[in-house]
Amino acid sequence: MRSIALISNKAEPLECQDDFNGRLVAITGATSGIGYVTAREYASHGANLLVINRNEEKTLNLCEEIHRDFGVECDFMLADFAHISEVKKVGEELVNSDLNIDVFIHNAGVYLPEKTISDDGLEMVFQVDHLGSFILNYILKDKLKAQQKCRIILVNSEGHRFAILGLKLDDLTWEKRHYSGLKSYGSAKTAQLLTMIKFNDYFQDSGVTINAVHPGNVRTNMGEENPGFFKRVIIKRSYRPIEISAKSLYYIGVSKDIEGVSGKFFNLTYEEEPAPPALDRELAEELWDLSIKLGELA
Ligand SMILES: NC(=O)c1ccc[n+]([C@@H]2O[C@H](COP(=O)([O-])OP(=O)(O)OC[C@H]3O[C@@H](n4cnc5c(N)ncnc54)[C@H](OP(=O)(O)O)[C@@H]3O)[C@@H](O)[C@H]2O)c1
Repeated sequence: MRSIALISNKAEPLECQDDFNGRLVAITGATSGIGYVTAREYASHGANLLVINRNEEKTLNLCEEIHRDFGVECDFMLADFAHISEVKKVGEELVNSDLNIDVFIHNAGVYLPEKTISDDGLEMVFQVDHLGSFILNYILKDKLKAQQKCRIILVNSEGHRFAILGLKLDDLTWEKRHYSGLKSYGSAKTAQLLTMIKFNDYFQDSGVTINAVHPGNVRTNMGEENPGFFKRVIIKRSYRPIEISAKSLYYIGVSKDIEGVSGKFFNLTYEEEPAPPALDRELAEELWDLSIKLGELA
C-alpha cells in the first residue's frame, strides 16, 4: 500500500479487470452520481444488483436500464435515510432474507449548506451520511458474519478533514456552534470513519471486511442546488471524470489486491491515514453507544 497526500488528487485509480459474474452487490443511493455509475460498473462486470434508494420512479427506471443494458438482475428496496424507521425496515427485511451479499456499498449521502433538522430530531447530514449506514451495518452485522464473506465499503470523503475540531457528540444539532455545510459534512464523515473502527473489530477474522473510500472530487448532484462558496470556487476547480469513482469502488470491492484488507481509508484506490479525529478510539466507543441509542437498536 502506498500513501498519497490530500493535495495529490491527480492520481489515477488502480483498475481491476476481473469479472464479478453472478455475485450480489448492494448499493445505497444508486439513483444518481457516484452510486449510479458504480451500479453500472458492477453490472457491466456481470454482478447482480440490489439498490436501496428513496425515489421509486428513479429506481424503477434504473433497474429497467441495468437489466436492458447488461442482462443482470436489479432488485430494489426503498428507504428515505432521513427517516430512521425506513432504514431499519430495510435492514430487517435484509436480515430475514436469504440473500448472500458479496459487496455492500454505503453510498447515499448529502451535503447541506443550511442546517436542517430531520423529523427524527437529528441534524440531517449526520443522519443520512452517518446514521443510515451505521443502522444498516449494525442490523446486518451478524448475518454478514455468518456469510463468512462480504466487503463493506463506506463511501466517505477527504471532506472528513473539514471537521478540524472533531466530532462533538454533545452538540450534534449545532446549537452551541455555528453550523456550516463543510463542518457538518466533515463531522458526519468523521463519525462514519469512527464507527468503521468498531465494525472492523467486530468483523476481525470473519471473512468480512470494511473499508472507507474517498471516491474523488467529481461533479454530481451533491451540493449543486446551493453550493456555497467553497464548493463553487474551490472544489469545482478540481473536478475529475466520474469514471474514477466507479473504477475505484469496483477495485476496492473486487480486486484480489484488497483481499483481507480491512479498517482502512482509501483515497480512490490508495490507502491514506485519516485525520486524527477519525482515529479517536475513545470517541468511537461513545459514538457507537450513542448511535445504537439514536437508532433504538439495543
Ligand atoms: N461528488 C463528490 O465529489 C464526492 C466526493 C467525496 C465523497 N462523495 C460521497 O459520495 C456519495 C455519493 O454522492 P454523489 O456525489 O454521487 O451525490 P448525488 O449525485 O447527490 O447522489 C447521492 C445519492 O444519495 C441519495 N440520497 C440522498 N439523500 C438520501 C436520503 N435521504 N435517503 C436515501 N438516499 C438519499 C440520492 O438519491 P436521490 O437521487 O433520490 O437524490 C442519490 O442517489 C456521498 O456519500 C458523498 O458524500 C462525493
